[in-house]
Amino acid sequence: MQIKTLEEYLDTYRRSVEDPIGFWSEIASHFLWKQPWQRVLDYDWDKPEFRWFDGAKLNITENCLDRHLATQADKPAIIWEPNDPNEPNRVLTYRELHQEVCRLANALKSMGVQKGDRVCIYLPMIPELAIAVLACARIGAIHSVVFAGFSSRSLATRIDDAQCKLLLTADGSFRGDKIIPLKEIADRALEMSETQCVEKVLVYRRTGSDISLQEGRDYWWHEMVGQADTHCPAEVMDAEDPLFILYTSGSTGKPKGILHTTAGYMVYTTYSFLNVFQYSGDDIYWCTADIGWITGHSYIVYGPLSAGATTVMFEGVPTYPDAGRFWAVVEKYRVNQFYTAPTAIRALMKFPLDFVQRYDLSSLKVIGTVGEPINEEAWIWYKKHVGNAKVPIVDTWWQTETGGILITTLPDVLLDRPTFAGKPLPGIQPILFDDDARVVEGFPASGKLGIRFPWPSMARTIWGDHQRYKETYFRYPQRYFTGDGALRDEHNYYRITGRIDDIIIVSGHNLGTAPIEDVINTHPNVVESAIVGFPHPVKGNALFAFIILKQTPEDTAALAEEINQLIAREIGPIAKCDKIAFVPGLPKTRSGKIMRRILRKIAAGQTDDFGDTSTLLNPEVVEQIQKTVQQL
Ligand code: PRX
Repeated sequence: MQIKTLEEYLDTYRRSVEDPIGFWSEIASHFLWKQPWQRVLDYDWDKPEFRWFDGAKLNITENCLDRHLATQADKPAIIWEPNDPNEPNRVLTYRELHQEVCRLANALKSMGVQKGDRVCIYLPMIPELAIAVLACARIGAIHSVVFAGFSSRSLATRIDDAQCKLLLTADGSFRGDKIIPLKEIADRALEMSETQCVEKVLVYRRTGSDISLQEGRDYWWHEMVGQADTHCPAEVMDAEDPLFILYTSGSTGKPKGILHTTAGYMVYTTYSFLNVFQYSGDDIYWCTADIGWITGHSYIVYGPLSAGATTVMFEGVPTYPDAGRFWAVVEKYRVNQFYTAPTAIRALMKFPLDFVQRYDLSSLKVIGTVGEPINEEAWIWYKKHVGNAKVPIVDTWWQTETGGILITTLPDVLLDRPTFAGKPLPGIQPILFDDDARVVEGFPASGKLGIRFPWPSMARTIWGDHQRYKETYFRYPQRYFTGDGALRDEHNYYRITGRIDDIIIVSGHNLGTAPIEDVINTHPNVVESAIVGFPHPVKGNALFAFIILKQTPEDTAALAEEINQLIAREIGPIAKCDKIAFVPGLPKTRSGKIMRRILRKIAAGQTDDFGDTSTLLNPEVVEQIQKTVQQL
């Protein structure tokens, strides 16, 4: 399944476009099926509906675990590196991981979880998180992992939306020098839950914190799982049965529960993993993402394990105990493929080079980034100091909704170039189109980025809201719309220029502006607010809130802090605003729409050339806002 040369890439790509059915059925033949498919692909852009490998029966965990037992039962599947470098690490071989997954799967069944039930997972980056994901898949339960940095409110919203029956959590989590009281946060979420759908909670003891268990609802993990059988037959799943829900921010309203299904997701994540990282033999692969995000689902758990790889899981943060931690871990395990986010690179670049140079990084063969555009300076630093000026960088573009990497270079096959993600993987047909939905051919070209043919790991719906799925991603005919802008150069390489909707990527996390504004507006002293992004040297973008108050207090700094605390409580600390300006008004069009374009310019420090402001109802407010911002 691996492409090794440019000729092979061009050839494979051509074939994948000319004969997608033949191409994907050949790839899919490398997996373990309980029953073969009747049709490789059925689709309808208008409904929209996409069915891959329809009629096939399988269980993804047999592909991730059982099929490796015959040949490599003793190979490490997961190497877990704890937050504290002095705590012993944990290594789970494929045999051990298989046993642990079966054990938890049996415990879940004994707690009443059945095929199709939703299970919410709110756990730190410990092996049990990967085990939990796989245990759900083993019995056909749909997992919904919620990043353990989210607040009670965010957790409650997600639990209610998916109607989760069971919650898996821990007493607490270690992050750098902090302990986060996960169980307390989960308890509050369960109180807030409007539908009270969660019946039982399974609690893993991680920090040893003093917590309370609610009789009849809460159970200790070690008590339930310790006694469970290590054999659990895998549920027979249809190719299109749901595998998981993962929430991502929308530009308006509540978060979107992106639904991925079983067979297509498995095939695509495995294929892309093997090609993008060129994993082979006993390589050690490390993706630093959290399993709370799609990157962790696809490229810590499912892709690598299905490919039989050794995948490293890291509990901590890049700067604890110091800014050399990533590189210490690379040296410790002789990591061969390393995959991280531009924001982490930018954060580490600020420290003395000695933090990198102290370590032996000679094991690295591929280094990757994901989550946002990587700026040239960070790219060069990464290449030079981590990649010893020669290791290929893969700048991988994709989304929660795409399930897997769509645009990238391939190590030693396609040349890596700063600021360009690269070319489509086989099977992916990107297009650029203009405001009238007309496809822009040739190069140089720029426009909205779309994909004009289905691929196996595309999201199938938004949980409970197919209409929103249609309106968000299929509003243009015969294509998937990404929400990103891009340009294409003479080498047919794509550069992703960023979001073209009201989503802002802060430190690699997608944040919708409207939900944060909604939270700010609940403050009793707030009349109205508008949030825009502005360039930030480490985070990529940071949030700037413009707020109209009922009454201006003496201590505006205290009020700004109070508003940030409110945001942290309601959404999570990642949504806090770096800058807050209390302004007398917001620039509005005659139809009452806030002109965010102007706010973006002011937030970026621009002092003139605001473009056409003649359609503004209140042009005088622009100068007033500028003055306020200058005084910040
Ligand atoms: O704007 C693009 C940006 O991240 C968005 C998707 O975010 P999310 O669903 O959270 O998934 C992130 C991990 C896959 C995209 O619409 N993005 C992601 N990767 C890149 C990127 N922008 C530029 N270059 C990338 N490599």
